[in-house]
Amino acid sequence: MNNILTIDGPSGVGKGTVARIMAQKLGWHLLDSGAIYRAFALAVDARGIGIGNEDTLEKIAQTLDLTFKTEEGSELVSVFLNGKDVSKILRTEKTGEMASKIASIGVVRAALLKRQQDFAQTPGLVADGRDMGTVVFVDAPFKVFLTASAEERSKRRLKQLQAQGTMGIISQILAEVVARDERDCSRKNAPLKPADDALIIDTTELSIDEVLAQVSELVTKK
Ligand code: DC
Repeated sequence: MNNILTIDGPSGVGKGTVARIMAQKLGWHLLDSGAIYRAFALAVDARGIGIGNEDTLEKIAQTLDLTFKTEEGSELVSVFLNGKDVSKILRTEKTGEMASKIASIGVVRAALLKRQQDFAQTPGLVADGRDMGTVVFVDAPFKVFLTASAEERSKRRLKQLQAQGTMGIISQILAEVVARDERDCSRKNAPLKPADDALIIDTTELSIDEVLAQVSELVTKK
């Protein structure tokens, strides 16, 4: 598949927003790989499985009953785990934290790999996550790595929470963002880092339209 755009980067950088808008613009499919790790973390939590029980974790990853649905005319993707809509709980900081912890386990990543690769369908795919350009879609022709200072990402996250009607404390969000980055960057399996052939965009001082312009240019230029 030649039409794959990967968008990787740390938490709160705006990957999801950029990926969603690019998928709409290009008319391509969308893979939010973080949602898969988050749903997996929920499934494991619901069964009370410990992080050291790798055989069971692998089985759960292999048989995860997960579906994504986009309502006609809506921007939001609903996520169903075992037929139950888990979209709301999926997006919480607590679930992100659990996902980050469980995503460091090699057998889990291996078991979820093909499920992610299966999203590569015509006419094309926009995939966002941590290792889209380095592991899952290494041959993708278009790769982007978004960065922004931890302070800026915390502000963006706070705004997002407020838009959802949830309260947040900036110092607490900053601490969570820094802890999650640290774990995602330092893990042995598929750590967060830019692919050698990725376009790195520091979005700290950029508007969403400025970021989209750079990403669009990359896709149309090649
Ligand atoms: O992108 P996100 O915040 O929804 O991701 C939640 C966690 O899942 C993230 O902290 C690490 C893990 N993750 C991963 O390891 N690899 C991916 N491709 C996507 C997410």
